[in-house]
Amino acid sequence: MPLFPNPVEAAAFRLSVVPPMLADYFGVLGFHSLLAGARLGVFDSLAARPATAADLSDNLGLDHHATAVLLRALTGLGYLRERRNRYRLTRCARTWLVRGEPACLVEGLEFWTRAAAAYWTTLEQAVRDGGPAVPLYTATEHDPELSRSFQSWTAALARRQAPATAAAVPVPRGATRLLDVGGGHALYSLALLDRHPRLHATVLDLPQALASAAPHPRVTPLPGSFLDAPLGTGYDVVLLVNVLHGLDDDQAGELLARVAAALNPGGVAVIGDQFRGGPTPGRASRTLLSLLDLNYLAALGGRVRTFAEVRALLVNAGFNRPRHRRPLRSPAAELAIATLPTAR
Ligand SMILES: C[S@@+](CC[C@H](N)C(=O)[O-])C[C@H]1O[C@@H](n2cnc3c(N)ncnc32)[C@H](O)[C@@H]1O
Repeated sequence: MPLFPNPVEAAAFRLSVVPPMLADYFGVLGFHSLLAGARLGVFDSLAARPATAADLSDNLGLDHHATAVLLRALTGLGYLRERRNRYRLTRCARTWLVRGEPACLVEGLEFWTRAAAAYWTTLEQAVRDGGPAVPLYTATEHDPELSRSFQSWTAALARRQAPATAAAVPVPRGATRLLDVGGGHALYSLALLDRHPRLHATVLDLPQALASAAPHPRVTPLPGSFLDAPLGTGYDVVLLVNVLHGLDDDQAGELLARVAAALNPGGVAVIGDQFRGGPTPGRASRTLLSLLDLNYLAALGGRVRTFAEVRALLVNAGFNRPRHRRPLRSPAAELAIATLPTAR
């Protein structure tokens, strides 16, 4: 919830003069205000034309008073600005919340509201057990709509992150074969294919996830589980983007050993993920990463690792000198890149 307290309010929270957890209690309502605004078309409508609450409620067929209440809440949260009774979008809402804009993350709201309902409301059980009763990727395989909204969310992030990631991958000279493990929507593969016209990609994912990938003449979908399906051999590059955080150390170690066996000598493995313990701009970023770690625990039985932990997994699997890259300079999208020895 983008609430920015002024210095007096911040001091009152810090000194517990008022209960600081009210921001968490009402954070849930803030999320649902955002969701309601998106679902009702408030952001799309105000992107086209600023409006009064009365005009907007007429345009969208909503209750006049209730619309004014919602707009005031969205204004307080920093998504709208109000001047002379007319509401318009803030830069934040224009950038992230308008459908059709390149950075739009509205698709994620539908996924997060379902994830929050399914996993976050039973967090204490996950903490007792070390993970969820039904992991997210089992649920998505049985629920096409959940899978579609999850893939739309990860695709929205990938549209921002894939070009810089692809530019950071040291594709060996003459490479023709790429394996994208857990590649889903395939946008990371497509970003690499754009840069390397001789490259063909095999995208391995669960069947429901692959339904979200648009067909492409140089992409072969490979439905199956990366935990037991044969990966094939003869690859020059293997991508594992946002995959390792869903696995425990044994599963991750076994998968990386099979990836090493699937690569040609001198082949490259690229792990894209979030790494704990690295440089972050501050406490807010560290806290978001800790909450993401908790989310991976609750939804997947997974974890956020440090780069040193990922490096150890790669070295154990036979890779040389794993390097840490931050093509976006963001703790949300980091890379561990490692190469196999040229002779085995
Ligand atoms: C967080 S998403 C990452 C998707 C894409 N790589 C990205 O970074 O945007 C994890 C992907 O791994 C897939 N996945 C999870 N478990 C899998 C399994 N056992 N076998 C194959 N794919 C799996 C999911 O379906 C999902 O597409």
